[in-house]
Amino acid sequence: MLKINEHYLKLQASYLFSDIAKRVAAFQQANPDKHIIRLGIGDVTKALPAACISAFHKAVDEMAVDSSFRGYGPEQGYAFLRETIAKNDFQARGAEISADEIFISDGAKCDTGNIQELFSTDARVAIPDPVYPVYLDTNVMAGRTGVFAEGRYQGLVYLDSTAENKYVPALPSEPVDLIYLCFPNNPTGSTISKAELKTWVDYAKANKALILFDAAYEAFIRDESLPHSIYEIEGAREVAIEFRSYSKSAGFTGTRCAYTVIPKECAAYDSAGNKQLIHPLWNRRHCTKFNGVSYPVQRAAEAVYSEEGKAQCKALISGYLENADLIAAAVRELGYDYVGAANAPYVWIRCGRDSWEFFDLLLNKAGVVCTPGAGFGKCGQGYIRLSAFNSRENVVTALERIKAALA
Ligand code: MLT
Repeated sequence: MLKINEHYLKLQASYLFSDIAKRVAAFQQANPDKHIIRLGIGDVTKALPAACISAFHKAVDEMAVDSSFRGYGPEQGYAFLRETIAKNDFQARGAEISADEIFISDGAKCDTGNIQELFSTDARVAIPDPVYPVYLDTNVMAGRTGVFAEGRYQGLVYLDSTAENKYVPALPSEPVDLIYLCFPNNPTGSTISKAELKTWVDYAKANKALILFDAAYEAFIRDESLPHSIYEIEGAREVAIEFRSYSKSAGFTGTRCAYTVIPKECAAYDSAGNKQLIHPLWNRRHCTKFNGVSYPVQRAAEAVYSEEGKAQCKALISGYLENADLIAAAVRELGYDYVGAANAPYVWIRCGRDSWEFFDLLLNKAGVVCTPGAGFGKCGQGYIRLSAFNSRENVVTALERIKAALA
């Protein structure tokens, strides 16, 4: 008799964004004439930058000719992309990362979800609350938690991110081995200073812990004093893995390209207490379970770093950040407390009532989809998240409708 992985049975019924999509689809079916505006899932709406499109086309043409055709590429990604990333995203900011420490993949969701496979099932895991659900659910699937009770999984150390700590959690009060951090934060849009991030790096070093740093939203940073990468912090190479994505910064949500950085010094320990380097283990996993991102997609990603690509991505990001500013201004006018928008495409709003009730209110009365904060964890109850990823026209209309609905 085949037995199921019972840890899956501990999971909440469905993935947050699938749950929302189902509710929205049911609402649309009941109200076929209603124009719904989606400010829920952070999915980009603007076309890929022209520089990426032309690199993409050129690479597709290369695939049409035997002499330039490419079959399997290196699992870790083509050198042209890894070298460009190392130079532009890290070395240019004074962060010492080399091309062979970069693993190209098809998404930060997959990488942040898969990385936990490398660590023991009894690792003590610290997870922020609220949090991008992938970190949590993948640890549940792997059996690192007990059951779900009173809004939380037993066995995890939750790092509360609340108005009181300006949505930057305090160091854990009990020992942990694996720490998830995401800045600029999804869902709150909050940011972390270099000094604050240094306390986490120091904690990890002192406790032989590892930080999984999700920097998928770094391109939205406007305050230049903030760190774009954890490797801008001294000592981070030994204790941090960083995840990046082209999804939000260059509109690749449907195109799929991201990368993970694992410095050569980064280590965990075996049961005898010996240091084991993580880089070769992730490389082993990557080669076994992944066959690389397609050549045209990697060429399109490389074009992000061309002069035109940089300017076009900057314009894309500025457009979404202007949407975030409009959302923040409307929320202020309505008298709600909020965080985010300044350096992130998300606005985290204290709605003062049950998150799902507020979600239903906005959907029913305004035809606007938000993300209920409770879906990101217990500390998200009483909040909603609005995403700036939509056209200017839709954002303006959504805000007019929200104002009318809440008047
Ligand atoms: C979000 O809305 O939180 C993100 O779009 C989800 C993701 O990037 O997978």
